[in-house]
Amino acid sequence: MGRGSRIAWISGASSGIGAELARQLAARGTEVVLSARRRELLEEVAASIRAAGGRARVEPLDVSDPEATVEALRRLDDELGGIDLVIANAGVGNSRRAVELGWEDCAPTIAINVDGAVASLLALLPRMVERGHGHLVGISSLAGYRGMPASAAYSASKAFLITFLESLRVDLRGTGVFVTDVRPGFVRTPMTDANRFHMPFLMDVRDAAARVVDGIERRKAVVTFPWRLAALAQLARFVPTWLWDRLAVDKGPARNAVVRPRPVFDVDEGGS
Ligand SMILES: NC(=O)c1ccc[n+]([C@@H]2O[C@H](COP(=O)([O-])OP(=O)(O)OC[C@H]3O[C@@H](n4cnc5c(N)ncnc54)[C@H](OP(=O)(O)O)[C@@H]3O)[C@@H](O)[C@H]2O)c1
Repeated sequence: MGRGSRIAWISGASSGIGAELARQLAARGTEVVLSARRRELLEEVAASIRAAGGRARVEPLDVSDPEATVEALRRLDDELGGIDLVIANAGVGNSRRAVELGWEDCAPTIAINVDGAVASLLALLPRMVERGHGHLVGISSLAGYRGMPASAAYSASKAFLITFLESLRVDLRGTGVFVTDVRPGFVRTPMTDANRFHMPFLMDVRDAAARVVDGIERRKAVVTFPWRLAALAQLARFVPTWLWDRLAVDKGPARNAVVRPRPVFDVDEGGS
């Protein structure tokens, strides 16, 4: 978008930042297409947008299926006569310490936060380049700056997105297609409601979405907030590894969002 965006597609629009972004963009005259897995919640968000005089369409979708995501976006682009703004916002958290971490804990995070974001961002890219017009937005995180405790899969998924978006922006310079990387700190949403630890500078979702909309309209390359946590996260990037390993260690109580039983191994006491 920025200026003059007519139609926006937003993933993860059934709750939290995505739902609020949809409301705020619609209030500014953008027609919004809302995607996520839970249709009923999408319908509720769309109804609230229409009640406020905006235009919204619901397109249930699971972005962890990249082929279906690309197909849906291209079909919508055809039907709507061109989507101007793609916001890859869908994401899941994952809080588990490495001593208990298994592939099955990480797989959904990678499928949604990485595969889903890549499929969303690339689906319309060639068309946007051909049109000489478009805006791609990814919602990464300040947690992508360093390996955060009990967050290997989540932190790494956001580090991937930060670097991916930066490379896209470098390649797309001069094409008329803009790329914005949004790196929030803690925002009060259903995702963070599950956290049992102190979240410094926790932000209201409306404030967060307003900053994203402002950043999109100004076609900013990178949007970070809240500024105090963003400044600390920026500083953390320069902390040497030996110091980070000591500072970042999680000393709090167990923080696993989902408790998975430990595998039980049968030990043959008798041996052979
Ligand atoms: N809240 C924070 O403090 C914070 C900080 C930094 C970054 N972020 C990022 O901001 C984004 C939005 O998070 P949020 O805080 O607003 O969390 P949220 O309220 O839990 O929203 C996550 C959204 O992603 C959707 N989603 C999850 N899996 C999906 C899938 N497979 N296909 C399609 N949609 C899917 C969910 O909808 P369904 O379940 O209906 O599919 C939901 O609409 C995420 O990428 C998150 O990592 C959040």
